[in-house]
Order: sequence, then C-alpha cells, then structure tokens
Amino acid sequence: LVLSALALSVCSATAWATTVGFAQVGSESGWRTQFSESVKAEAAKRGIELKFADAQQKQENQIKAVRSFIAQRVDAILLAPVVETGWMPVLREAKRARIPVIILDRNVALNDDSLYVTRIASDFTEEGRIAARWLMQQSKGQCSIIELQGTVGATAAIDRAKGFNEVLAQYPDAKIVRSQTAEFTRAKGKEVMESLLKAENGGKGICALWAHNDEMALGAIQAIKEAGLAPGKDMWVVSVDGVPDYFKAMADGDANATVELNPHLGGPAFDVVGKVLDGDKAIPKLIRTTGGLFTQDTAAAEYEKRRLN
Ligand code: AHR
Repeated sequence: LVLSALALSVCSATAWATTVGFAQVGSESGWRTQFSESVKAEAAKRGIELKFADAQQKQENQIKAVRSFIAQRVDAILLAPVVETGWMPVLREAKRARIPVIILDRNVALNDDSLYVTRIASDFTEEGRIAARWLMQQSKGQCSIIELQGTVGATAAIDRAKGFNEVLAQYPDAKIVRSQTAEFTRAKGKEVMESLLKAENGGKGICALWAHNDEMALGAIQAIKEAGLAPGKDMWVVSVDGVPDYFKAMADGDANATVELNPHLGGPAFDVVGKVLDGDKAIPKLIRTTGGLFTQDTAAAEYEKRRLN
C-alpha cells in the first residue's frame, strides 16, 4: 500500500511538469502583483521551474513570450491575456507543439476552444452588477456617476461595464455622465479623474465614482480630495478587487465599497497543469473563482487580516 502510494505520487504530473511558462499582463495594480506572487509561490512550493514574463500591458510582448515558451519546450503555458482578441495564431502554434495552455483571469475570444484547456476566472459581469446594486441601494436610485474604465478590450473592463449598466438600466434617475479608460493604474486614475471632475463643474453634482478596479479608485480619491471634496462622503466610491490599500481607504472613510476579486490563482492553475499532464480529459472549460462585497463596516478588520499577505 505504501509502495503504491509512493508510485502514485512519483507518477503524478506535477512531479514531472518541471517547467511552466507564465505570460502575465504586467504589474499595473496591487491585485495583479498579488496574483503574480501567488503563481510564483505555488510554483516554488511544488518544485516547478517557472518562466515568468511581465508584458507591461502590451499584447505583442505577451505573444513574444508565448512563442519563446514554445521554443523552450515548456511543459505547459499559463496565459493571463491583456485583451480578448488576437490570440488565434499563437495558440495554434502552442497546440501544434502539443503544449497545453491554461487561461487565467481575463478571457480570449476564439472560435476554437480546443486551443486552451480551461479558463480560471471570476464572473466580471456579476462584479459589475454587485457594485451597481449596492450603489443604487445607497443612492436610492438617484445618482450621476463618473466611471473609470479598465483597459480597452480587456474582459474585466468589458464585462464589469456590462453588468453595472444592466442594473443601472432599471433606474431612470441614475446615469453615467462621464466615462473614460484609466488603464487599471493608479496614476491614470488620478489624471483622468482630475480632467473629468473639471469637465463636471469640479464634481459638485456628481454622486458617485464607479471604478473598474481599486487601483484607479485610489488615484481618483486623491483627485477628488484635491478638488476640495471628501471622497466617501460627498461622493460614493465603489470599485472592484479588495486590495489592502483600498481596505485602508475604506477604514479611513475615503472609499465605500469594493467587490473582492480572488488573486490566489496559483494553486488552482498548477492543479490543472497536473491534471492535464496526467491525461485527465474531464477538465471543465471554465473554473470559477468567487468573491463578495466589502464595505466600511468590516474594512479595518479586513485590512489588518490582509495587509501582511
Ligand atoms: O483582470 C482583472 C483586473 O486586472 C483587476 O481588477 C485589475 O486590478 C487588474 O489590473
């Protein structure tokens, strides 16, 4: 019995899947950094050699990274795509080289789903709905909203906007009055918010900021303060991710709510790598991660729990 258990563990795919390439979007947000750390830590824990490529938010860099992983004959590729379109040719190359590809987080738009094993991701549309429902409840359905969108063409931006707008459509006295991309970064969040506030009479009639991620919201909070308004009081602030800095902002009263996005994708990703290399044919095409709404009530305690992780 002991021997067969030993044989099983020696044969398990994660034991011989020594090299995995990871084409990551970049390091645009605190959430993204947590996600990269999770994959690196999990690879180290399992004795897997990880080839990590930071694409600096550029799809062409990611495509180059995937091609280089193929040339190096890695055992599997993890791809966290910047945008949805444009993946067909390089994923065909990976398939021809018989290298399994696992999609993490944002989606890829393909008409051939045999080009990847599975996608591990949260439901971005539902995140948008949760944020909007919360805001409509607080504002009693009467609200002029500024929206900071994520990267153009990225699933997290497309679907969050879709979910939010779906709920908003039920409230005739609520509308998005200004909307612009700030590329998921804190610096752009501040810069874009400054210009949108100027265009909206200093933000006086604005009821809420809806940001597609915490990082942009944190930048925008600065801009709101510099415009002489109190974020979290004069203007509701709601976003997505649940990074420690944003919990701090909620605890300080500068932000109101966030929908958590789980960054711990390393474990599930390498579980799938193990299964696929073991020949498992029953892996579902979509593996969902879950999150929930967090508000100021629990922010201080959550910040203490999360700040050192
Ligand atoms: O794709 C997920 C989004 O990407 C996160 O919400 C954001 O922080 C990151 O840049």
